[in-house]
Amino acid sequence: MKKLFLPFVAVLLASCSTVVQEAGYQVIPRPNNVTLTQEEPFKLDKHTLIGFPKGDEQMKRNADFLAGYVEEATGYRPYTREFTDSKLLVDAVILEIDPNVVGNEGYQLTVSSSNIFIKGATPAGVFYGIQTLRKSIPAVATDARISFPAVTITDAPRFAYRGAHFDISRHFFTPEEVKTYLDMMALHNMNTFHWHLSDDQGWRIEIKKYPLLTEIGSKRSGTVIGHNTGKYDDIPYGGFFTQEQIKDVVAYAAERYITVVPEIDMPGHMQAALAAYPHLGCTGGPYEVWRMWGISEEVLCAGNDSVLTFIDDVLTEIMEMFPSEYIHVGGDECPKVRWEKCPKCQARIKELGLKSDKQHTKEERLQSFVINHAEKFLNNHGRQIIGWDEILEGGVAPNATVMSWRGEAGGIEAAKMQHDVIMVPNDYFYFDYYQCRDKTKEPEAIGGYVPLSKVYSYNPMPEALTPEQHHYIKGVQANLWTEYIPTFAQAQYMLLPRWSALAEVQWTQQPQRDYTQFTTERLPRMIEFYKRNGWNYCDHSE
Ligand code: ACM
Ligand code: ZN
Repeated sequence: MKKLFLPFVAVLLASCSTVVQEAGYQVIPRPNNVTLTQEEPFKLDKHTLIGFPKGDEQMKRNADFLAGYVEEATGYRPYTREFTDSKLLVDAVILEIDPNVVGNEGYQLTVSSSNIFIKGATPAGVFYGIQTLRKSIPAVATDARISFPAVTITDAPRFAYRGAHFDISRHFFTPEEVKTYLDMMALHNMNTFHWHLSDDQGWRIEIKKYPLLTEIGSKRSGTVIGHNTGKYDDIPYGGFFTQEQIKDVVAYAAERYITVVPEIDMPGHMQAALAAYPHLGCTGGPYEVWRMWGISEEVLCAGNDSVLTFIDDVLTEIMEMFPSEYIHVGGDECPKVRWEKCPKCQARIKELGLKSDKQHTKEERLQSFVINHAEKFLNNHGRQIIGWDEILEGGVAPNATVMSWRGEAGGIEAAKMQHDVIMVPNDYFYFDYYQCRDKTKEPEAIGGYVPLSKVYSYNPMPEALTPEQHHYIKGVQANLWTEYIPTFAQAQYMLLPRWSALAEVQWTQQPQRDYTQFTTERLPRMIEFYKRNGWNYCDHSE
């Protein structure tokens, strides 16, 4: 009798002692429509099923993501099960495709006492509904039953392009770290990873036709200490992604509905490539992979036909690795001092009949020739280019999207010329800048001051543009340049929590945005996710 009785009491106690934790919809980015309804809450526990439509691989993956997210919070993993008729499921989270849901990435999340429905017109929309549900669960809810207040959430992003940029040239980050970056992006509903893969200080992607780009160009013999002090650490530094590793990252991103937009910065920021192939430069070298920071005067020679072949060859392999419609070709910070003296560049200027006038120098027009060449090549293969706002100087390539980084002036000018625009004004979205006024207490950064509140305050629709011109503003992005960011923990510190503010700029309609509510109601919940995931963050961004 005693033997039977004791386990019975233990089971009874265990079931009675199950903690209930309340879900809450104060998530980041703030959903655009949240309506609580007068029904009993839905209770999620380890018996809850996650249903997905039979035979739909993307929805199956979505279901697996949700099961994993619940497990991260609670420690138990709900079962996933395919269905042919969702009406037969009760006590389930049901993922469904519904063409009536508005927007490619929109979703409807409905919680009733019997079920939770997440519907989207596409699997991507369902994925964002899952993100909202996931963030409504307390980050740490070990073994708890989760009580979801009955609600209807109808939501879709304000911008189609919600970007985050990562420079892995100045400092190298591993495939695992890049995947964590993508996980962080998914939590913030971001969908475009702008991957800065080459620069003066290191070429970081394998190109099979030009093996020296990585054999030589990915390695520097040392790194300047501090802000170009003239002192070097003399520690060899390097790293690159093989094509297999790149494809693996692209697939990992795609599973999370993130498009990877690669950047091969040209014709400037090419000194590492010149170290590998000196004949591509105006002087013929020799060149070293740069050990200091700044803007190198050593750029691709625009008068050399083998440079155009090099661009085509590299872009061909880039297109093979990256299915993205958009390829970023840089175009920023290309000094013209070599071109002004180079006989080949001057011969090209003559051949093309380029002339200086009040608007542009002939060398600026020569830069447009290079970018136009890259655009034509990519357009012929069904791709489009993005370039930094310098591509406006010398005449913008006909179909280019302009990424406005020197404030928003370039973006305004481009939208007036009916070009698509991504807003990345440095005074709001350069997250390599300090986020606190007292710089002495911060890890050394490049300079500047972009506090959390300033990030949040940005409205990407400039008043200088008409409503029609606003249609050309396709999205918003933050950049992370890594001259002063040697570790991934420090990268996270610079991004978080500023990405939370960015996420609402990217996703939430302007009338729904409220900084006080953001900092008091939503950000503290998000910080719990950062903590639980072991992501470093700044706890005093101003
Ligand atoms: C840039 O920051 N040079 C685009
Ligand atoms: Zn030249």
